[in-house]
Amino acid sequence: MELRGTCALVTGGAHRVGRAIALGLAEAGCDLVLHYGSAAAAAAATAAAAAALGVRVATMQADLADPEAPERVLAAAGGPAPVRILVNSAAVFPDDDLEGITSEGWDRTLAVNLRAPVLLTRAFAAALPADLEGAVVNVTDWRTARPYREHFSYTVAKGGLDTFTLAAAEALAPRIRVNAVALGAILPPPGKGSEYLKALAQQIPAGRPGGTDPVVAAVLFLLRNPFITGEILRVDGGAHLR
Ligand SMILES: NC(=O)c1ccc[n+]([C@@H]2O[C@H](COP(=O)([O-])OP(=O)(O)OC[C@H]3O[C@@H](n4cnc5c(N)ncnc54)[C@H](OP(=O)(O)O)[C@@H]3O)[C@@H](O)[C@H]2O)c1
Repeated sequence: MELRGTCALVTGGAHRVGRAIALGLAEAGCDLVLHYGSAAAAAAATAAAAAALGVRVATMQADLADPEAPERVLAAAGGPAPVRILVNSAAVFPDDDLEGITSEGWDRTLAVNLRAPVLLTRAFAAALPADLEGAVVNVTDWRTARPYREHFSYTVAKGGLDTFTLAAAEALAPRIRVNAVALGAILPPPGKGSEYLKALAQQIPAGRPGGTDPVVAAVLFLLRNPFITGEILRVDGGAHLR
């Protein structure tokens, strides 16, 4: 898929991984619909950085825990250029476990990390004009194959996102390709410093955290390659080998 001149919707695009993906797409020549939840100032800064790369950018606020939000986001995103790329990056990362999880916590994680990408993808497919091809990239986590005790609802939701990636690739073929990147130690979790991630990453084959550049490269690769769909590409520095 030629990215230049297409329009991409990136959820959670205000900062960190979502911001890097959004700016990578802008650098590749994509107009952007930059979704954010609460980080309005960061979204404005990312939008300005993307616009400086010469593309058109619209920012859009929506709480993705709201089941009505995905339809609204896609309806509002339909500007002069149809959205042909959807990157589902927004997610929550609560510190829960099986014993302690509450039904409210469970529902919120599943709503943001799984239901929202499903409903966004459905609305995206419905809005895509019949004569155009599109592509979706979901942002998941390599730990779905090797769950931890902590971050229980997160891990289960991302596992659902993995299966959704495969199911949607089948359901939306051949017009829309659906792939995923399964991330490892990319950035320290919010609230933790870079030393925390460095120590953790010493245990993986790469021996260091990835940073966002490899994520952006993987997303662009999956979007550009017309013969890849239903693929979950690990960007984890080889963490899955150990
Ligand atoms: N960082 C890593 O090393 C790593 C590792 C594995 C997987 N991942 C995955 O990569 C993606 C990005 O990670 P990250 O570390 O950059 O995440 P992050 O810093 O925690 O950011 C999450 C994003 O999700 C948005 N979000 C959360 N709840 C929302 C809601 N209810 N409605 C709308 N937006 C909401 C936030 O938007 P606002 O701030 O605007 O509210 C934020 O932009 C996630 O899917 C994550 O699971 C990251």
